[in-house]
Amino acid sequence: MSEKLQKAREYETREAQLIHEDDRPCFHFTPRIGWMNDPNGFSFYKGQYHLFYQYYPYDTKWNAMHWGHAVSDDLLHWTYLPCALAPDQVYDGFGCFSGSAIELKDGRHLLLYTGVEERTHANGIREELQTQCIAIGDGVNYEKLPQNPVVDGSTLPEGSNPHDFRDPKIWREEDGSYAFVVGSRHADGSGQLLVYRSPDAMSWKLDTVLDRCHNAYGNMWECPDTFRLDGKDVILTSPMEMDAEGLEFHNGHGTLCIIGHYHPETKRMEREFVQAVEYGLDFYAMQTMQAPDGRRIMIAWLQNWGTNTQPPASQRWQGQMTLPRELSIRNGKLIQVPIRELEALRRDRVTQQRVISGETALPGVQGRVIDLMVQVRPVQEGSYQRFFMKVCKDERHYTEITYDPLTNVLSLDRTHSGCRRDIVHERKCLVRDRQGELKLRVVLDRFSVEVFVNDGEQALTAAIDTSQAAQDITFACLGQAQVDVEKYDLVMLEKEKFHD
Ligand code: FRU
Repeated sequence: MSEKLQKAREYETREAQLIHEDDRPCFHFTPRIGWMNDPNGFSFYKGQYHLFYQYYPYDTKWNAMHWGHAVSDDLLHWTYLPCALAPDQVYDGFGCFSGSAIELKDGRHLLLYTGVEERTHANGIREELQTQCIAIGDGVNYEKLPQNPVVDGSTLPEGSNPHDFRDPKIWREEDGSYAFVVGSRHADGSGQLLVYRSPDAMSWKLDTVLDRCHNAYGNMWECPDTFRLDGKDVILTSPMEMDAEGLEFHNGHGTLCIIGHYHPETKRMEREFVQAVEYGLDFYAMQTMQAPDGRRIMIAWLQNWGTNTQPPASQRWQGQMTLPRELSIRNGKLIQVPIRELEALRRDRVTQQRVISGETALPGVQGRVIDLMVQVRPVQEGSYQRFFMKVCKDERHYTEITYDPLTNVLSLDRTHSGCRRDIVHERKCLVRDRQGELKLRVVLDRFSVEVFVNDGEQALTAAIDTSQAAQDITFACLGQAQVDVEKYDLVMLEKEKFHD
């Protein structure tokens, strides 16, 4: 084991003990200690779910990327394993960037990641070289291949640059061969997705340009993923520096879902529908895996480069993962709902049905670790003009969801959640017109609000650092609406937290 990896492992074992359980979310994954961004290597291996993550143990800010590691039986209770990768080679000394994992035919676990090397030239100009590298292991310890990098910039299509060539997502084809999709930058300066193929997962050849941005959706496309779902081919990617488009895409780092058909003859994706993956504030770099029962499950970084709330100085972790979500396609669009495993944590059902106008708290409906279903209906046509719901509320603070049945605009706003940073705090999306009917599922877990709209047609997520004492929830309407509420507390089981 390298000195760097050993140092990271010793540090995390010692320091993570100092973080109190109550100072983390319950079932949203957080780094063992320090900084976390993208989910990596999300896979099922030796009977457990594995999650790796972009990790800098020594600080709550981004720095030389390691890969942290954890395992789970239900995607909700996680056990930390020792840090899996450290930036300890020339080709990855600047960082082990994002990537993915797969079980090889011989039963070993393969990690495919982007190695970043920083070179400073004689004239002082600094450049980053990104290449694709492999580490193979047993689910705990991983060894980098001596022949790394296995794919470098020399394989790129003409005009692409080797500085933006990252985040490979690997899969196995039915014939037993391997493929990965990776983000790159075309000569026009905007993103393209390349597919590489290999018979053995060791020697790789560029196969095709699967799709290209053409400067339409952001510039660089990060963290791509592609899979078949409900008879369609799907590409997910996280574009940098997007230009806002209606309420579908917001400025800056966003998310993109392309639904269509992959044509084996042209080796290209034919697009049928393009949409955002998420409409909230804090969601980026999603990655999926296929569970043994066939479900396509997505997890993402519950944060975004532009909306980063700074943790209080006393907080020793920064960054959370979203709730894992089950994906499907309905009417040609992406649907996402919380994994069904969450329902096993439900306790103490409370239901309330009311006609609501002024701001109302409902008996038994409060809390910060809850699963809350809300259905809003006009009592007669046009009986309300606006619906408001506040969560994580005390006298001063709250996070608000509002819905306008005339324009069908839904908003998630954490302006009053207690964050002191001058950053974006509100996001809106356009929901399907249902004549004033709205269905919400709101999952709260201490430091986040996740909102699923109309059975998963849209989702909006925000990270919050509101004091845990802010437990109240209220509902209000301009006009009158029937509001039906079903609420559960979510209670974790006792599980082993660390396994070194
Ligand atoms: C996305 C990203 C990836 C990169 C990683 C570095 O958030 O920028 O493209 O691999 O983070 O930490």
